[in-house]
Amino acid sequence: MAFVSSKEMLKKAYEGGYAVGGFSINNMEMIQGVIAAGKKTNSPMILQVSQGARKYADLTYLQNMASAITHLKNIASAIAGDCGLPIALHLDHGDSFEVCKECVDCGFTSVMIDGSHLPLEENIALTKRVADYAHDNGVAVEGELNGREHAQFTCPEEVGEFVFKTNVDSLAIAIGNCHGAFKPGEAHGLFKADEHPSLRFDILSDIEKLLPGTPLVLHGVSSVPQQLVSTIEMYGGSLQGAQGVPEEMLRKAASMSAVCKINMDSDLRLAYTAAIRKYLTEHPSHFDPRQYLAFARSAVEEMVEHKIVKILGSNNKATED
Ligand code: G3H
Ligand code: ZN
Repeated sequence: MAFVSSKEMLKKAYEGGYAVGGFSINNMEMIQGVIAAGKKTNSPMILQVSQGARKYADLTYLQNMASAITHLKNIASAIAGDCGLPIALHLDHGDSFEVCKECVDCGFTSVMIDGSHLPLEENIALTKRVADYAHDNGVAVEGELNGREHAQFTCPEEVGEFVFKTNVDSLAIAIGNCHGAFKPGEAHGLFKADEHPSLRFDILSDIEKLLPGTPLVLHGVSSVPQQLVSTIEMYGGSLQGAQGVPEEMLRKAASMSAVCKINMDSDLRLAYTAAIRKYLTEHPSHFDPRQYLAFARSAVEEMVEHKIVKILGSNNKATED
């Protein structure tokens, strides 16, 4: 089994009314936890590597650890194996032609070029350059229009021109989403104080009407489960003000719109960290990383299984025609 392109995967999701998770991977336990959940739920999966992950663990390590999934033979194992799932290996937030090319050349089957910080014409030129190269090599491309660090809204008036001129396979949009576990409130002028972050379904609806057939992608929509925030705080952490997008909104986006890929990063980190804090506090004499990392790996698996079944609706979609 080899990694598959995300293009077919997202086309099926578009037609089937569900979304595929773009799961961020930073180390072996996260990869294993994510894949175990995919296997348990028979879900297509996108494993993605961010700029931060590349700095932390090195692209070659991550690419080879992820590739191990496609080589292992032991399908009886709950944590690994040639699991037979369609899995895409994706570059998240590629910031230059060169980094996208490096990933295309070393076996990634999907890349994101994020030119959203650039003026429209420059974003189009950079994205088109990446798309031309990636498509020549059978690799799918995700582009982005607007908003990353600060949630600005994507202009529906620009999406048609962007997709037409760049030929991207999917488009990340900004409709109130924002990265991290501290989604902005009133200070950013987007939401009222004491309200949860919220998605602008009116903008989403305008965009999807203008882009029939184009899968849309949501970044920065972690839900920041308050139960995990409480666990982290109970065991010595401090996450005052952490909040995310309510799960009902994501379920709606995944099932009733052209949103076909939803990224998941902060919630996986929270699950991982809550598990380690709890484990070490409850087992003060343990010092073997295999003990607490196995616990963290299970927490990631549980979180991903929850996302697949309750939010994305991609369960049992791995082997359908
Ligand atoms: O690219 C990665 C995701 O968009 C991260 O979003 O921080 O809300 O999980 P998140
Ligand atoms: Zn993102």
